[in-house]
Amino acid sequence: MEKKLKVAVIGCGRVSRTAHYSSIKEHSQLYEFVGVCDTDKERADKYALETGSKAYYSADDLIEKQELDLVSINVPNGLHVEVALKFAERGINLMIEKPLAMTVEDADRIIDICERKNIKLFTIMQNRYNATNKILKSCVDKGRFGRISTCNVTVSWRRELPYYTEDHQWRSRRDLAGGVFTNQCVHYIDMMQWLVGAPPETVYAKMGTIYPIEVEDHGAGIIKFKNSVIGSLVLTNHAYPLDTEGSITIIGERGMVKLGGKSMNKVVQWDFVDKDIEDDQIKEAETNPPTVYGFGHLEMYERAARSIRGENIEVIDGREGRKAVALLEALYLSDYSGKEIRFPLGKR
Ligand SMILES: NC(=O)c1ccc[n+]([C@@H]2O[C@H](COP(=O)([O-])OP(=O)(O)OC[C@H]3O[C@@H](n4cnc5c(N)ncnc54)[C@H](O)[C@@H]3O)[C@@H](O)[C@H]2O)c1
Repeated sequence: MEKKLKVAVIGCGRVSRTAHYSSIKEHSQLYEFVGVCDTDKERADKYALETGSKAYYSADDLIEKQELDLVSINVPNGLHVEVALKFAERGINLMIEKPLAMTVEDADRIIDICERKNIKLFTIMQNRYNATNKILKSCVDKGRFGRISTCNVTVSWRRELPYYTEDHQWRSRRDLAGGVFTNQCVHYIDMMQWLVGAPPETVYAKMGTIYPIEVEDHGAGIIKFKNSVIGSLVLTNHAYPLDTEGSITIIGERGMVKLGGKSMNKVVQWDFVDKDIEDDQIKEAETNPPTVYGFGHLEMYERAARSIRGENIEVIDGREGRKAVALLEALYLSDYSGKEIRFPLGKR
């Protein structure tokens, strides 16, 4: 049997508690859960006890004291880059929660060091592993839609003011979180570009803020892709009375599909001119996850382990994670400048 990979999690907050600890435990044949790390000592101690691992109170302490094959970085978005660089410098493989970084420049810094050190970098975009989304991607790749004209994303969620003000207010800050485009909807923006399957050409966006916070809490954007698909984003954290819709719609000349539910896991519409195997597969694929996080973290960890062990397996790497970061940067640039933004951004 192959040696288990030593893994630690940095940041003992919501996402770690909801999706990471359980995924690592489920893959106990692949991973040895060696540590959790949080600058909040009480939290670190609590989750060390709960996960049967050791508590660390700083990234430096973890690096110095613990041998690691993989570190999972689940701290506020704006801190991903500084934590990632520390571990990468020591040659430790990285799994980084969404978004990879807050700017293209920072994403490139992480990608560059991982390439230089010859280590693996995984970006968490777990919705790509929802059964429904995989089947939809297969329809796109097989050309079942014919020529695709349109991709719409609608996210009508509700986040009250305390959501932004708790946890030292990081979710209200531009440098640490970004607003509804970044913090809630990066998954949907990634899903759009992944399904459309072509690089973006231009973007235009308008954003607004109703609450007394720095970040945008509603807005709309248009993305024109190089294959002429027009994507639209209509995003709000002010739905009433609760989260009502998180959906993606693909419209082609020979098919139209809309996936909704908590994390694009329910079929709202599924119509194609020509029948094929996915029409049966999709009937079995709908799930009802307890949270918007879905179940995809489990597959992220499985693929990461196989990739670290040298298997040539598809993973969501740094270059994949960068795509949504670049779209986000362009959307913000457009809103700030009032202008349409043309790709590419940065050096890649
Ligand atoms: N994939 C998803 O669906 C999903 C869902 C929620 C959050 N996230 C992402 O996960 C990350 C964490 O979000 P969250 O909601 O769990 O936040 P959180 O505030 O609940 O938890 C973050 C934790 O990090 C700790 N921390 C902050 N700086 C640290 C440092 N330098 N070293 C060690 N610990 C530090 C904090 O004390 C806190 O316990 C963010 O990047 C967020 O975007 C992803």
